Amino acid sequence: MNSLAVLHASQLVTLAGPKRPRVGCELSELAIIRDGGMLIRDGWIDTIGPSTEIEKSAGDSEIVDAGGRVVLPGFVDAHAHPVFAGNRLDDFERRARGETYERIAAAGGGIWSTVEKTRAASEAELLNQAKKHAKWFLECGTTTVEAKSGYGLTLEHELKMLRVIRRLNEETQIEFVPTFLGAHAVPRECRADEYVDLVIHEMLPRVASEKLAEFCDVFCERGYFDLERSRKVLIAAGKHGLKLRIHADQLTNSGAAQLAAELEATTADHLERTDQDGIAAMKASGVQPVLLPGSVYALGSTGYPHAREMIEAGLAVVIATDFNPGSSPSPSMPMMFSLACTQMKMSPAEAITASTVNAAYSLNRGDKIGSLEQGKLANLAIFDCEDYREIAYRFGFPQIHSVYVRGQSILRADKN
Ligand code: NIG
Ligand code: FE
Repeated sequence: MNSLAVLHASQLVTLAGPKRPRVGCELSELAIIRDGGMLIRDGWIDTIGPSTEIEKSAGDSEIVDAGGRVVLPGFVDAHAHPVFAGNRLDDFERRARGETYERIAAAGGGIWSTVEKTRAASEAELLNQAKKHAKWFLECGTTTVEAKSGYGLTLEHELKMLRVIRRLNEETQIEFVPTFLGAHAVPRECRADEYVDLVIHEMLPRVASEKLAEFCDVFCERGYFDLERSRKVLIAAGKHGLKLRIHADQLTNSGAAQLAAELEATTADHLERTDQDGIAAMKASGVQPVLLPGSVYALGSTGYPHAREMIEAGLAVVIATDFNPGSSPSPSMPMMFSLACTQMKMSPAEAITASTVNAAYSLNRGDKIGSLEQGKLANLAIFDCEDYREIAYRFGFPQIHSVYVRGQSILRADKN
C-alpha cells in the first residue's frame, strides 16, 4: 500500500461538513485544523486531524512536511472552455480601445474567430495546446476542471473537441468533466433554426451514444440562442440523459435564470444581469449559480453578479474562472478569489467554499472531491502562506507551493 502523511499545515482547510452544497453562513465555515495533518492511503484520505495524532499513526508512510503552510482541497473549476486553438489578442486590444464584446463579435472577432481556428486545427494540435492550459490550471492549485466544447459548431468538430477532452482526462493529472456546448453560437453557414435542428438531431444523439459528455450547456443570449431555442436544445439534452448548465443573463437579462429553474438545470452560469425574480426562481428549484468574475473583469465591465443577494437568498454559490480565449483568459482561481472579495464583496472563506465543495457538487462529484475528509480523494494544494486569506488578499503572483492529485506529487515549487 502506498501511504503518505502530510504534517504541519499551519491551517488545514478541510471544509468538512454536511454532505451537500453549502448555503448562507455555511459558506463561511471552513472547518480549519491548526497544525493539521492527514494520512493518505492509495490516493484516498484515510485519517485527518492534528499533526501530533497523524504522526503517531504514520508508521512508515512517506512524510510530506507542509512546513507551516496552508493546505486546501484542490480547486474545482466548474466552468471553463479549455480546448481551443489560437488566442484573441486582437479582440483584447480592440476592447482596450473601447469596443464592446458584442461589436467585436459582429465585426468578425469573438467566438466565431476561435471557431475558425479550432476547425482548422487537428485533434493533436488542439490536445497539445490544451495540455499547456492543463498545466496552467495545476499551477494555480486546480485539480478538477469542467471542459466545454463549443468552438467546433459542426458535428465533426464538436466531436473532435469532446475527444480532446477525453484524451486530456487520460493524459493529464487533472480530471476534466465534459460538457457539450454545441449551442455556443450560430455558425455563419446556418440559420438559427436549422442549426438548432442539427444540434438536436445530429449532434446530441452522437454525443450521448459515444458518452462524450455528462452535461449540456447553451449560450442563452441575444444574438446567440434565445429562450425558446435554448429550451428546445436543453430539453432534448435531458432526454439523452445529460444534466444541464446554462450561460444565463451574461450580457442581457433574458429570463435565462428562470429557464434554468424551469428545466431544473444543475447550474445557471454568469448571471451578471439576473434580478430578484431570477434569484427567487433559482432558489425555488435548487439551481446553483456559477459566478464568473474573471469574464466581467477581462471585458472591462463593472457589472458583477449580485453575489451577496444570492448568498442571502440561500443559493449554493459557485465561483469559477470561465477560462476561455475571449472573455476570460485566466485559469487562476486565486485571481477569482481576489475579484470575488474586492468586487462582489464575498469573504475569502465564502470564495473558497464556492470553488471547492460547492463546485464539486455542481459537477456531481461532491462525494469524492471538494473537501479534505476521510473517504475522499487526496487532491490538495499547498500554498506558500500561513493564513488562507492571503490567497485572496495578495494578487497577481503565484503563491502555490505544491499540488497533489490522488496522493501523487504533481507539482512542487522550488521554494524552501
Ligand atoms: O462564458 N459567453 C459565452 N461564452 C464564453 C465566451 C467565449 C468566448 O468569447 O470565446 C463566456 O464568457
Ligand atoms: Fe463560459
